[in-house]
Amino acid sequence: MSTPHISAKKGEIAKTVLMPGDPLRAKYIADNFLENVVQFNSVRNMFGYTGTYKGKTISVMGSGMGMPSIGIYSYELYKFYDVENIIRIGSCGAYTAELNLYDVLLAESAYSESSYAATQSADYKADMTYPSQHLNEKIEAIAKDLNIPVTKGVIHSSDVFYRENFDDYKRINKEHNAIAVEMESFALFHNANVTGKHAACLLTVSDNLVTRAETTADERQNAFTKMMEIALSFAE
Ligand code: HPA
Repeated sequence: MSTPHISAKKGEIAKTVLMPGDPLRAKYIADNFLENVVQFNSVRNMFGYTGTYKGKTISVMGSGMGMPSIGIYSYELYKFYDVENIIRIGSCGAYTAELNLYDVLLAESAYSESSYAATQSADYKADMTYPSQHLNEKIEAIAKDLNIPVTKGVIHSSDVFYRENFDDYKRINKEHNAIAVEMESFALFHNANVTGKHAACLLTVSDNLVTRAETTADERQNAFTKMMEIALSFAE
């Protein structure tokens, strides 16, 4: 069995999938954190792996950037591979000066101007989607155990990385209480909701729109261990 975008056989993907945006970050996690690794996907170089972490099984796969991309992969994982939980582990741009580079955020909801949810299921008109409450509670408990501070808040899922009006983020921060921006969570949460599955989103701050502080691509690839440590605890 395979889908148009995933060549795995049924049973090759674990119940929980960690999804970074970058497929090379998925490879990095598999190479550096997992044992007994089996690669289950390379279609379009969207690498996916299943392995063990402290003897327990978990999968990791890239989502690509943006809601159309994560929309395809998360839907196929939920619908055709019996995946129960997808935890996005991504990066974000902070909308407040108080957030520092490499702070870990947990999405309490995703606000978006995107038409993804309305288009995917015509009955859905809201501009907010929500993660699974029980996954969020588990993430908070694990973070506390590991002594990793986590900031919770509304995340802005944007369709546009380069806005002509850079300062538009100030309005979105004010009107929707969004503390940071990324480009995937709204669609991921929607897909979990329509398929009766579960999703959560952990983010590391990679840049700050207020202070203009930013990390380099190399740092981004390697410096997200805190967030990964939390997410890898979902191996079972
Ligand atoms: N905008 C959108 N997505 C992002 C950003 C950003 O500034 N930083 C990390 N992901």
